[in-house]
Amino acid sequence: MSHAAPRPLSVSARGPLRGTLTVPGDKSISHRALMFCALAVGESRIRGLLEGEDVMATAAAMRAMGARIDRDADGTWRVHGVGVGGLLQPEQALDMGNSGTSTRLLMGLVSSHAITATFTGDASLSKRPMGRVTEPLSQMGADVRSSPGGRLPLMVRGLCPAVPITYTLPIASAQVKSAVLLAGLNTPGITRVIEPVPTRDHSERMLRGFGAEVTVEDSPEGKIISIHGEAELKPQTIEVPGDPSSAGFWMVAASIVPGSEIVIHNVCMNPTRTGLITALKLMGADIVEIDAREVGGEPVADLRVRHAHLKAIEVPADLAPSMIDEYPILFVAAAVAQGRTVARGAHELRVKESDRIAAMRAALEAAGVQCEEFEDGLAIQGSAGAPLAGGGSVASLLDHRIAMSMTVAGLAAAAPIAIDDVSPVATSYPDFFETLHALTGAAQ
Ligand code: S3P
Repeated sequence: MSHAAPRPLSVSARGPLRGTLTVPGDKSISHRALMFCALAVGESRIRGLLEGEDVMATAAAMRAMGARIDRDADGTWRVHGVGVGGLLQPEQALDMGNSGTSTRLLMGLVSSHAITATFTGDASLSKRPMGRVTEPLSQMGADVRSSPGGRLPLMVRGLCPAVPITYTLPIASAQVKSAVLLAGLNTPGITRVIEPVPTRDHSERMLRGFGAEVTVEDSPEGKIISIHGEAELKPQTIEVPGDPSSAGFWMVAASIVPGSEIVIHNVCMNPTRTGLITALKLMGADIVEIDAREVGGEPVADLRVRHAHLKAIEVPADLAPSMIDEYPILFVAAAVAQGRTVARGAHELRVKESDRIAAMRAALEAAGVQCEEFEDGLAIQGSAGAPLAGGGSVASLLDHRIAMSMTVAGLAAAAPIAIDDVSPVATSYPDFFETLHALTGAAQ
């Protein structure tokens, strides 16, 4: 998947956001839905799948390894799985585009199958560390040959049968946890992951839903997640709830643009994903959960968000795992809050689609916001509700969340903010700009 032609955009302030919207399907759940359906025996259906480039990279890879995946005209996806243990040798390198989740989880799957796969990606993904998954997967018997620094392109030669391990996560990462659990799916015996700090638990929830034997126990070392190998997954009908990370852009946009009031439908409220809502409420945001319910084994709610006068906070570091993708947009909220917001303990931001600490510092400073950079976070001086100066040029660095966050910053800026390339938005939120237009257009 080569990167699309750059799409520059100049964003200026516009009227309040008003109306109701739904956000696209959750990215983490969409990747896992395709992978697990492709490993079930028989036909599964997925509704509400995120049709962004990252998830399409997962679909292409699962097709290359033998699954049949089709989209009906009504948007339902039908997947004919090959069964755990049934993945076929892909004929060509698997192009993961921009998607770290596809790469790391699929490396896990390949590790315990008797196949070899080469993984390639775009310039952003090729800079990201893969050693964090290579290490446990090698312990299970996979032979991984990576480029210098443990990066892409890399080749995984799986071992079947692989060796079950007990692995304590050295960093809070749902991708590493999931890679080991997915390798454990086709490994005889019990594979265990010990998670000292809880991270998103979609793999555990969904695998159980597909009929795998997955147990989670608390221990003094953290959660112990065990998967019984040589599992048989039963086909499912999956309803993917809305992505709380995508909803975050509208939560902040409505909070900072005076006169805004929106309702976001069908947002996944899994507690391992709601850190941004907690942080924004601490800042004084007016976010109300309506009609809390369960969809497909995940808690879901509609969220009403109104403009509010935000106050600076010290962002609790223990929220980091549950809002790790939301720091860029939280930094935008901090830029218009009253006072100095400090966010520390988020070192992982350095190895996302971009170095999000450096990228957001540069972007916000270009928009006239005073920042202080730490190794593990940022301090941001807020404008106390006044418009940001704006007027600067921002580099999105192949990072969808930098592009969307700075678009939202532009809504609260006196002079337009020029973003060099918003095309990466298509990786996770293809309709982002249509939705922005609909929400602001309704008030014009
Ligand atoms: C994800 C886990 C997180 C997150 C990413 C999606 C997942 O990454 O940042 O966008 O679906 O498991 P880490 O595991 O690197 O924290």
